[in-house]
Amino acid sequence: METRTDYCGNITTKYENQNVNLYGWVQRVRNLGNLIFIDLRDREGIVQIVVNQDSGKELMDIATSLGNEYVLQVKGKVVKRSSVNPDMKTGEVEVDASEIKVLNEAKNPPFEIKDDLNASEQTRLKYRYLDLRRPTLQKALIMRSKIVESIHQFFDQNGFINIETPDLGKSTPEGARDYLVPSRIYPGSFYALPQSPQLFKQLLMGAGFDKYYQIARCFRDEDLRGDRQPEFTQIDMETSFLDEKGVQDITEKMLQKVMKDVMNIDLRLPIPRITWTDAMNRYGSDKPDTRFGMEIHDLSPIFKDSEFKVFSGAIADGGCVKAICVKDGAKAYSRKKIDAMQDYIKRYHAKGLAWTKFEDGKFTGPISRFLGDDEQAGLKKEFNLTDGELILFVAAPWKVCCDSFDYLRRTIAKEMGLIPAHVFDFVWVVDWPLFEYDEGDDEWIAAHHPFTMPDDEGIKLLDTDPHKAHARSYDIVMNGDEMGGGSIRIHKRWIQEKMLKALGFSKERAYKQFGFLLDALDMGFPPHAGLAIGLDRFAMMLAEKDNIRDVLAFPKNSSASEPMMHAPAPVEDLQLEELGIEVTPKAKKGTEEYNERLNEEADADVKAHEE
Ligand code: AMO
Ligand code: AMP
Repeated sequence: METRTDYCGNITTKYENQNVNLYGWVQRVRNLGNLIFIDLRDREGIVQIVVNQDSGKELMDIATSLGNEYVLQVKGKVVKRSSVNPDMKTGEVEVDASEIKVLNEAKNPPFEIKDDLNASEQTRLKYRYLDLRRPTLQKALIMRSKIVESIHQFFDQNGFINIETPDLGKSTPEGARDYLVPSRIYPGSFYALPQSPQLFKQLLMGAGFDKYYQIARCFRDEDLRGDRQPEFTQIDMETSFLDEKGVQDITEKMLQKVMKDVMNIDLRLPIPRITWTDAMNRYGSDKPDTRFGMEIHDLSPIFKDSEFKVFSGAIADGGCVKAICVKDGAKAYSRKKIDAMQDYIKRYHAKGLAWTKFEDGKFTGPISRFLGDDEQAGLKKEFNLTDGELILFVAAPWKVCCDSFDYLRRTIAKEMGLIPAHVFDFVWVVDWPLFEYDEGDDEWIAAHHPFTMPDDEGIKLLDTDPHKAHARSYDIVMNGDEMGGGSIRIHKRWIQEKMLKALGFSKERAYKQFGFLLDALDMGFPPHAGLAIGLDRFAMMLAEKDNIRDVLAFPKNSSASEPMMHAPAPVEDLQLEELGIEVTPKAKKGTEEYNERLNEEADADVKAHEE
């Protein structure tokens, strides 16, 4: 093919009066009879092609026959436009076509290729190659590529070695379910896809590599959310002979470089640090959104003897009374709106959401009559109250207060427009508990993972009161989302054994599952520490997208399936037989139910196409 002069989106006055050769897709054709405009699009943008009577009949005929998404080669001369379009990079020029070749035709696409489209997510994913033609997704993936490039440069410049670790391995517990891959050679045995390269990278420290990194694929079978995918990518690193500060310093410098290279933003270092306990107390969350204030205040000292029994009673029961103050909230929040928030926080086991408004120097609202003089003075002082403010209270056990106010802070900040745009606010959350209680499964689990070093006090507590222990772990949080996490690792066998015991492993089971690690720790294992950042989440935040799918070329939908290739899908019986696997699926291939579902899907596709 003839060499392209430049991308369509780069054709500016720089090329004025030059002949160019372009390739691209027809975004749209405007036929004015004796004048035809074609918007030609490629990954860099759109340029206007013009065909008129002077171009000759053949060219007019071709231009008339074009449809959206046809693939063209266009030759022509770049000329100044009579009506400049200031919104387009190429808006000062157009290409006066001398030759148009249709390289391929296109059926009418199921949705128009433009940014503000209203096709369903399912349809977009089914025709992902079309969806990906949209400028916003092209930009996001190009940005992601720049992030990765910057990361590789950083680690290379800082003496890190890029080492790949296997995808077919053995389960390492990161808290989710494993994706399993059956072995044909060992029927009944399974590989587990890595939830992260955690144990491999630790073993690489044992092997003496000292500074490792990898842009690593991870697989976790867990409930999906807007910032989670079953398969995702980590910027994974591990180092020997560094403590918390050492790992955090490297991470900060890496983030600083990426922010500069990709966003041209100067990230000020050091990134602030907050302890887990402070984060929970002030923001109600272990991933605090620090872009706005509205911090949570503990008002238990003010209300411990309150006449309002809802408050004093909760404190007497070992709980607390916490509150936030919403500036200008008195007008913005009606009783109905507050009731709706009260209903919402019931899911966190909050029994209510009490409120008072401070208007014309007075407290109003249902609980105001319970507020004694001291309590009123206490509130004024605590919040430095001014007119028009709304105070929201929850009286409950500590965790219930945290969860409720985490929700309330985030929701109200959004509704009141308190979140500044284009701000990237990083914070380290440090000094975590070693264990957390999993309500769903009713068990204690490692808050980070089982290879995290407890602090000195925590090591002692492992025998007596492990759930009180704290960990030498740290998370990096940005704009209220967890970007990454890491820790100092256990490098002594006896501590690792105690840790596994505290997690409920018998000696035998610990050895069966982690014997290779325990043995390795006995053979000159260096102190080591590391961290992993979720690349997809990081890219999503920098691209300012709400959903992680927008920075992945071929993501899974929210029910973990991929509607284009139809994964997951049933396989041939013979394949199963070779693997020694017998399946009793609800819908088995060939059955009536299965065919019905196939038909339903096909119908939905056709319908989606017609829409
Ligand atoms: P952790 O489990 O905290 O740590 O994961 C690190 C980061 O990976 C990202 N992440 C995800 N991104 C998208 N979809 C998911 N399902 C998903 N799960 C996690 C998050 C998270 O902060 N081995 C340790 C790291 C270490 O200790 O070095 C680990 O995997 O951004
Ligand atoms: P009640 O006395 O239950 O009618 O509650 C009076 C007010 O206090 C209502 O506005 C409730 O929403 C609120 N309330 C009740 N329980 C709590 C609680 N645990 N925390 C905060 N407010 C509550």
